[in-house]
Amino acid sequence: MLLYRGAPAGPGAPGSALARPGSGPQAFGIRLSTMSPRYLQSNSSSHTRPFSAIAELLDNAVDPDVSARTVFIDVEEVKNKTCLTFTDDGCGMTPHKLHRMLSFGFTDKVIKKSQCPIGVFGNGFKSGSMRLGKDALVFTKNGGTLTVGLLSQTYLECVQAQAVIVPIVPFNQQNNILSGNGKC
Ligand SMILES: Nc1ncnc2c1ncn2[C@@H]1O[C@H](COP(=O)(O)OP(=O)(O)O)[C@@H](O)[C@H]1O
Ligand SMILES: [Mg+2]
Repeated sequence: MLLYRGAPAGPGAPGSALARPGSGPQAFGIRLSTMSPRYLQSNSSSHTRPFSAIAELLDNAVDPDVSARTVFIDVEEVKNKTCLTFTDDGCGMTPHKLHRMLSFGFTDKVIKKSQCPIGVFGNGFKSGSMRLGKDALVFTKNGGTLTVGLLSQTYLECVQAQAVIVPIVPFNQQNNILSGNGKC
């Protein structure tokens, strides 16, 4: 198969419905598969009851790669909206790890005889959180780096997104935004 780099020659040319190079995910004239924002809700429907969604978040905290000893679940009112907050004292995530957590299908968990992780498909957080609410804000800390990520159906609807996009912002304790591209 021959892949070419550059804009298609003109209307009707192979790939002419594709975006120009550098214009986003369809760069280089290759049509890439994307995920509709509606997938967030359909994916969450695997949880017929909210309890299994809560269990996904608890499982993540106690899985061997996180090893939290304490998990708090609180109900809070934020701007007249009821929010569930999950807080754990596990190892937290680097910006790179949070990026993988808020993507689909990535998992670094390894199955060992001694300690078998509960989640292994890289989907539990996304399906569980989106079953409990339309929006999930994740704050995490690893060393001196804090990171916040937003998996939000409300945001995607607001910006009329055609694909799932997840803002992830690393910052330090002085409130300075760090480069989002660094692999940590
Ligand atoms: N509470 C947490 N603390 C630290 N890392 C987490 C936490 N929850 C999830 N993660 C990370 O995000 C990844 C993806 O989570 P998830 O979507 O539930 O898939 P899975 O549990 O199958 O890997 C986990 O493998 C883990 O590395
Ligand atoms: Mg999981």
